[in-house]
Amino acid sequence: MDAKANARIGILVVSDRASRGEYEDRGGPAIQEYLSEVLTSPWDAVVEIIPDDQATIESALIRMCDDEKCCLVITTGGTGPAKRDVTPEATEAVAHKLMPGFGELMRLESLKAVPTAILSRQTAAIRTNGLIVNLPGQPKAIRECLDAVFPAIPYCIDLIGGPFIETDASRLVSFRPKKK
Ligand code: MTE
Repeated sequence: MDAKANARIGILVVSDRASRGEYEDRGGPAIQEYLSEVLTSPWDAVVEIIPDDQATIESALIRMCDDEKCCLVITTGGTGPAKRDVTPEATEAVAHKLMPGFGELMRLESLKAVPTAILSRQTAAIRTNGLIVNLPGQPKAIRECLDAVFPAIPYCIDLIGGPFIETDASRLVSFRPKKK
């Protein structure tokens, strides 16, 4: 990994209606806004808006991790119990490793905001040199979930061979264990 290259971060909006242009996507911009607020190291966004179709989601995840070399891919939408909600299935299908702690912590924190937090099956996984993290589709869930797990994300990216991600400590402290 070229230490000077900007980190590439995938933002994958999974929504039938947003992909058809039936409503303006608010999730993608909310994720971009969050990252701009928290990250101090340089990064570029790779954004796609796609329908709730498992094969399409899998292809987009593979493209972002393997071809676009994203060290982090944040998905929004399609994590619930409805028939068309298949983002976790697509994430698990392309995973080289599952990272169940992310979903556990996000649900735990989200439960403080909404009792329906348990309806999200959101998970996370490693694919190639990228960490995929699922978020629910509600724009307000983005901040609630990312505040919970982001402190561990820069170190996770270190461990999978990605770029050194730095955060604004006055906004969010990223935790890196001291070297023994
Ligand atoms: N988590 C947070 N933090 N905030 C929310 O508003 N909404 C819940 C849940 N998790 C929510 C949340 C609801 S109502 C649903 S149905 C599930 O996420 C799944 O949402 P999705 O299908 O849009 O991914």
